[in-house]
Amino acid sequence: MQEKAIIVREACHKDLFRVVEINRICLPENYPYYFFQHLLERYPGCFLVAEVDGEIVGYIMNRIEKGMSSFNPSPFRLVKKGHVVSIAVMPEHRRKGIGRMLLEWGIRSMREEYGAEEVILEVRVSNEPALSLYKKMGFIVVKTIKGYYHDGEDAYLMSKKLVG
Ligand SMILES: CC(C)(COP(=O)(O)OP(=O)(O)OC[C@H]1O[C@@H](n2cnc3c(N)ncnc32)[C@H](O)[C@@H]1OP(=O)(O)O)[C@@H](O)C(=O)NCCC(=O)NCCS
Repeated sequence: MQEKAIIVREACHKDLFRVVEINRICLPENYPYYFFQHLLERYPGCFLVAEVDGEIVGYIMNRIEKGMSSFNPSPFRLVKKGHVVSIAVMPEHRRKGIGRMLLEWGIRSMREEYGAEEVILEVRVSNEPALSLYKKMGFIVVKTIKGYYHDGEDAYLMSKKLVG
């Protein structure tokens, strides 16, 4: 059987209903429509979707923040950080490299288009697939945030250095 082509591209407004749907199917962390819309308008270069056969099957949504470096923290030097707010791939399309493609492109955009010096994210301590993906991509655990999720589960704050 022929492999189906995977396309990663920047999201546009008409993609948002599908992105919200994938978010609700794949993750317990859901947001109102206007939150997705705001991040798309503010950071369009790093809000990405993945398509298979013309159907959107995954997305990554990021934002840029200023804060202390995870690697060399100083209140006197704030750095631009890319923040992976949400990433998901539909269950039937997992383990095909789509999550990795979305993350790689998202990180490149946060660095090259928005000047991020590092990328941070939170992940449930029990989320083995995501943890494995992030570690493979060079993220390290910076700290554990107790009771971060609404059900009380802890999060790992992970970070990847992009410059220096
Ligand atoms: C995490 C997620 C986005 C990964 O997407 P994906 O397209 O399946 O990931 P990839 O196929 O690109 O996998 C890349 C690597 O991640 C790791 N990985 C992915 N799924 C894994 C799993 N189920 N078990 C162990 N490692 C896994 C592997 O190292 C994999 O490389 P390999 O396939 O060469 O072994 C996907 O599982 C998902 O949508 N999960 C639900 C939503 C979620 O948890 N999002 C993250 C919130 S922080």
